[in-house]
Amino acid sequence: MTSTENEKGDSPMSLDDEVRAPQRASDQQDYHATSSEQITAEVLAAISSTTGTRAGEILSAVIRHAHDLAREVRLQPDELLAAAEFLRRCGDISDAARHEYILLSDVLGLTMVVDTEAAGVADGALETSALGPFYRAGAPWEPNGANISRGTDDGEPAKIHGRVLDTDGTPISDAVLDVWSTNARGLYENVDPTQPDYNLRGRFRTDANGSYDLWTVKPVSYPIPDDGPVGELLHLTGRHNMRPAHFHVIASAPGYQTIVTELFTDDDPYLDSDVVFGVKPSLVVHYNRIEGPARLAAAGRTEPYWDLRYDFILAPGQTTTVEFSTGRHQNH
Ligand SMILES: [Fe+2]
Repeated sequence: MTSTENEKGDSPMSLDDEVRAPQRASDQQDYHATSSEQITAEVLAAISSTTGTRAGEILSAVIRHAHDLAREVRLQPDELLAAAEFLRRCGDISDAARHEYILLSDVLGLTMVVDTEAAGVADGALETSALGPFYRAGAPWEPNGANISRGTDDGEPAKIHGRVLDTDGTPISDAVLDVWSTNARGLYENVDPTQPDYNLRGRFRTDANGSYDLWTVKPVSYPIPDDGPVGELLHLTGRHNMRPAHFHVIASAPGYQTIVTELFTDDDPYLDSDVVFGVKPSLVVHYNRIEGPARLAAAGRTEPYWDLRYDFILAPGQTTTVEFSTGRHQNH
């Protein structure tokens, strides 16, 4: 017997095997294809070490909802890549003073849903509204009666005054109002190098009677930036990029729930179509025009101005700190 014959005789592949091989391939056609739901389960299992943590709760919900969204709209691979490119460009256009992701959250209404759910404000108390991307921490402390219009051409003078009260009507002394708004051109000082540092921003404390009193300018409508991806989204959906005139406030006091909010001017044409969905009926206010020699003389003024009286009503609760603060564009 030659070695060749030996090798043939010991060959592991017999005729029977060759016949059976295609049959195994045929068997495979009966296997169940992997479903997208199985992939979802696999991904959730992969993060199971986070179970019981807040991160795990959020991440697993993001995964479940994102996967369900993809199934619901039958998201196509090129559409997923387009979304990734959209987000990349949101990052690209962002810097210390331009926060495209916050704008995106704002125009999709997500910010207002989160703020409203998180605050859980009691009926009758000051309601929340969007912080927006222009809050700048560390505004100068000002005495009551001070004017935070530090520029030369900021807009029409406005006096804003009133009290900070508990829900039972008790005045709250030492409450803090951290306020900010744009000038008449709709620009916040941090994105407008022609304005003085911290223009139209300030922090005030209520006196022993819970009263506050400040001078600023009457707010105007202004556009949010639409030269980036968020602007494209607005154009695509046929929406304008205007915010109705508003005055930003963070109201806080020891032992009371801190409220981030805005007061909206009642005569504004965009009141019913705020691009960031911030308007709530209780936050719409009316500025009275003070003019005429007699009224001006009574107020000790010579020029006409707007007058807003507004009481902020706080509910007992936790004081919180706003962690976000924008930067100021440098004038290079
Ligand atoms: Fe604003």
